[in-house]
Amino acid sequence: WAFPFAEGKLFVLTLRASLEGYHVNVDGRHVTSFPYRLGFTLEDATGLSLNGDIDVHSVFAASLPTSHPSFAPERNLDWSNRWRAPPILDGPIELFIGILSAGNHFAERMAVRKSWMQNRLIKSSKTVARFFVALHARKEVNVELKKEADFFGDIVIVPYVDNYDLVVIKTVAICEYGVRRASAKYIMKTDDDTFVRVDVVLMEVKKIPENKSLYIGNMNYYHKPMRSGKWAVTYEEWPEEVYPPYANGPGYIISSDIANFIVSDFEKHKLRLFKMEDVSMGMWVEKFNDSRAVEYVHSLKFCQFGCIEDYYTAHYQSPRQMICMWNKLQQRGRPLCCNMR
Ligand SMILES: *[C@@H]1O[C@H](CO)[C@@H](O)[C@H](O)[C@H]1NC(C)=O
Ligand SMILES: *[C@@H]1O[C@H](CO)[C@@H](O)[C@H](O)[C@H]1NC(C)=O
Repeated sequence: WAFPFAEGKLFVLTLRASLEGYHVNVDGRHVTSFPYRLGFTLEDATGLSLNGDIDVHSVFAASLPTSHPSFAPERNLDWSNRWRAPPILDGPIELFIGILSAGNHFAERMAVRKSWMQNRLIKSSKTVARFFVALHARKEVNVELKKEADFFGDIVIVPYVDNYDLVVIKTVAICEYGVRRASAKYIMKTDDDTFVRVDVVLMEVKKIPENKSLYIGNMNYYHKPMRSGKWAVTYEEWPEEVYPPYANGPGYIISSDIANFIVSDFEKHKLRLFKMEDVSMGMWVEKFNDSRAVEYVHSLKFCQFGCIEDYYTAHYQSPRQMICMWNKLQQRGRPLCCNMR
């Protein structure tokens, strides 16, 4: 990655705010992209600040749409019975998938419903998928959210106003719902910008004997906390030198015994909560592993950065990409990426 700036040299920096996040170009070359923080969208941005030793010659705002896609995003809902979730059956189910989402992510949820949630395993209730959504700071959003939840039947509302720290609590909520309400054998956690191939995820799970405890995902081993910068972790927050092995947040699976253990520790106020949800899970599984050996399974096919061919899960997918990937799977029977926005 070449540092794009040179002292004394004029440059043109372009910030593009798209549906799913920011794209940054310098002198026409793409430098980086990152998604909005969970629960935030473009309309929450009220300013732009520049730091460092630079002179600003001019600022242009261009191509501002007259109606932004995140304005009245509930227009993206398609009120057709086709997209309603089947009820949870009484018998045990194989896999419960909890999808983290934010109140105003109407378009994201609709794209998930119309794409991978159409998987036959979900349609036949062998696998159950539910969105976990906390309350939005704007009341109007919650009114729409409640209507959406009543109609589609696939939303679990977490009764707190959304903020980043809630992600860990939502993960506990996914574990609880998965084992108590759905009596699932396996619990998966994912995000609303992640495409999941439900069949192959279940096939991966089935490779491990049923009586074993498992933790499957894109594993990080010996990761060290960042001690400086914007995302710094203090020694109070994390005194140890390395994190326990942990799977990247956008797609991992645990067995129900681990989920039960997490819920039970949470109820006894014994669960250690760390601000990063995926590291927290790694910590909980490590503790569980002290009394019962866990099978750790690592695969890069749970893609953290976008999409690769033959993916099990693909992250940072826009609503349009979700639909495109689903169509490719259906029409060509192949897990291909859709590299448009
Ligand atoms: C798990 O099941 C296998 C057969 O599927 C069996 O050989 C093994 O003893 C079982 N292990 C435990 C701990 O129950
Ligand atoms: C899990 O437990 C086994 C056996 O006690 C141990 O060898 C292994 O290092 C543990 N794994 C982790 C990630 O803590």
